Parts: sequence; structure tokens; C-alpha cells
Amino acid sequence: MNYNLDREGLVEALECKDPAFNKALLEDAYKVKVASIGPVVYLRGLIEISNICSKNCLYCGIRRDIHCPRYELTDEQVLQAAAMAAQRRFGSVVIQGGERKDKAFVAKITRLVKAIKAIDTGDDPPLGITLSLGEQPREVYDEWFDAGAHRYLLRIETSNPDLYRKIHPNDDNHSYDRRLKALEDLKAAGYQAGTGAMIGMPYQTAADMADDLLFYKSFGAPMIGMGPYNPHPDTPLTHSGAQFPSDDERFMLGLKMIALLRLLMPDINIAAATALEVLNPRGRELGIMAGANVFMPNITPSEEMVKYNLYDRKTILKDCPSVGKDDNHICKNCVFPFCSMGENMREGKIVVGYGQWGDSKAALREKSLKKL
Ligand code: 5AD
Ligand code: SF4
Repeated sequence: MNYNLDREGLVEALECKDPAFNKALLEDAYKVKVASIGPVVYLRGLIEISNICSKNCLYCGIRRDIHCPRYELTDEQVLQAAAMAAQRRFGSVVIQGGERKDKAFVAKITRLVKAIKAIDTGDDPPLGITLSLGEQPREVYDEWFDAGAHRYLLRIETSNPDLYRKIHPNDDNHSYDRRLKALEDLKAAGYQAGTGAMIGMPYQTAADMADDLLFYKSFGAPMIGMGPYNPHPDTPLTHSGAQFPSDDERFMLGLKMIALLRLLMPDINIAAATALEVLNPRGRELGIMAGANVFMPNITPSEEMVKYNLYDRKTILKDCPSVGKDDNHICKNCVFPFCSMGENMREGKIVVGYGQWGDSKAALREKSLKKL
């Protein structure tokens, strides 16, 4: 099928409720992915280092003002998880956590990035490291880059400044302009700067989502992590009673955003976000079959994983055989070979890129241009 990928065409595609159109869109995006980068899916072991956050985003279950048990992983816990990622040949890890600017935390990340780089990976390259630790001063981005991190994920959350204001407290700590500036700083510091937004939020229109896709393109993002909004019961956004699309609608929107982005940017990395799995037990697999090519097995120690509660993850965690058990766990829902992905893997529709950093073709192209 031919797709019109200007703003109007994107809005129309996002609003379309015709199952035949939607199915064709997802299948076509998968084909574009295979033609552009092949069926390979890269892994990143996701380590949720801490749920302590200095911000108060109105949608988030670990926002500063929520009363919930807080944790911070020890160096040893992080390094154990990273060693497991190396042993299983994941190729890369992501360190994600709430936004913290205190000196001890900044130093801890620097120390851990260096230590992860030193982990023995046999014949593979040292683990690739993506950080996702919010807005930081440029010097901190530089320090972590120099320590060995080379990708950074900072979602813009929405590319519409008015909507940004509605879903964040109205203060200097939650500024759309500062967020954009941080993204520019990340690029200037040398990172592959990834971004993304939530999909199907209160007050968000199809035009907003189309604009998000166009924003990714104009920013030149080499990687995108976006996923459906999932309400958390104790947040101001939920308490506001503002309406948003149903679970089924948000799930389909999540898949269609992946597909449309793949058509718009055929050679970037697109993650199949965990938020998809809340809405459908095979959510991430279906994300991959709609054009995503990055999968992030959660390797946070299980007793802490349950506390990283951005939104209601009960549906995922209730089936997790490792929660509350001994660690060095591997959850069947989180790690290849998946139960449900088995068939697509056997048929060669999903091929795992073991032992590789898995930078996007777009990022590698950019890097070689810089060298010229
Ligand atoms: N639903 C979906 N995603 C959420 N995030 C935070 N709260 C929610 C929610 N309720 C996402 C944000 C943030 C990332 C770490 O988690 O997009 O960037
Ligand atoms: Fe903190 Fe991120 Fe949650 Fe905002 S979305 S409160 S920055 S963890």
C-alpha cells in the first residue's frame, strides 16, 4: 500500500479504525524494517537503578510526592545484573532511573559505567551502555560519556508544549524548553540521543501524535522508545478524571505509531516498550512484528523491580516466576527465547543480534559522515 506520510496522512492513519487498513499498515512496516535493516532484534538488559526521583510528573507512579517504597540498587547489584547480561550475550545494557542530580549519584553512575565497561565479555565487544537518567547539566552528560556510555534516552514525552504543561507541574523543574535543550546537549556531548513520547494520553490528539513522529524526524533521532500511556491509580492525572482512549485503542495506537515511524525513518532503532506488554501479554512481540527492532529484557533484581512502578505493572509482574524468589533470575516474559516469540523466531521473522551493541544504521551513517 502507498502511505501519505505528511501530517495530514499521519493523522488519517492514526484515526483510521478499519481493521484491514491497520493490519496492512503493521505488516507493511515489518516489511520495510526487513528491507532496510533485516529481521534482527537487538537486546538491552534493562537495569532500573533507582525509583527515587526529584521530579513530579503528573502521570508517573514514582513521582516525588507519591508515597511508595523507594530503593537504590547497590553497585554490586548493578554489576551482577550487567555480568548476567554479558554472560547471556545481550550486547548492551540500559541504566534507567528517576532523575537525580546529587553528587553521590552522579559519581556512582560514572563509577558503574567504567566498571561495566570492564566486564569480561569473551569474544564480544565490551557491553554497550545506554543511560536514561533524565535531564542533567551538560558537564554531567560529558562525564558519563567520557566514562564510556554512548547512548542516552530522554523522552520528550510530547512534542506539544501546551500538552507538556498539562501533564507536568507548572514550575521551573518541568520545563519543555529545558527538556529540548537537554536533548541538544546530549547530541553535542556525542551521544546517540534517543527520545520518545507517551501515546494515548489525556488531552492528546491524533495531530499531537503525528507531530511527535515528525519531531523525531526533524530532530534526527537515531533511536526512539515510545509506548502507550498507562494510568497509575495514585497520580494527579488519573485523579483529574480526564478521559483517554481505551486499553484496546491505546494498544493499537502504540503499534501504529511504531509502524508509521518505521515508514518515516526506516533505519533507526525503535524499541518495543514494556508499556505495550501491560495491555497485551504479547505486546512487545507484536511491537517487533510492527517494525520495532529493540527489545529490553528487564534484569533488575526482582524484589526491587516491583517497586519501579511507573504505572500499574501488575499484569506483567503477576506472571513473573522470579518475583519474590531468589535472584540471578531470568523471567520467561522478559528474556529470549520467549515462549510466545518462539514461533516467529523459528520462522526467522525475528532474529536476535546476540553479543552486539546494536547501534542503529542511522547512527552509524551519521558517525561516518562526521568522519569525512
Ligand atoms: N504510562 C506510560 N509511561 C509512563 N512513563 C512514566 N509514567 C508513565 C505512565 N503512567 C514513562 C515516561 C518516562 C519513562 C521512564 O516512563 O515516558 O520517560
Ligand atoms: Fe521522575 Fe521520570 Fe517519573 Fe517524571 S517520568 S516523575 S522524571 S521517573
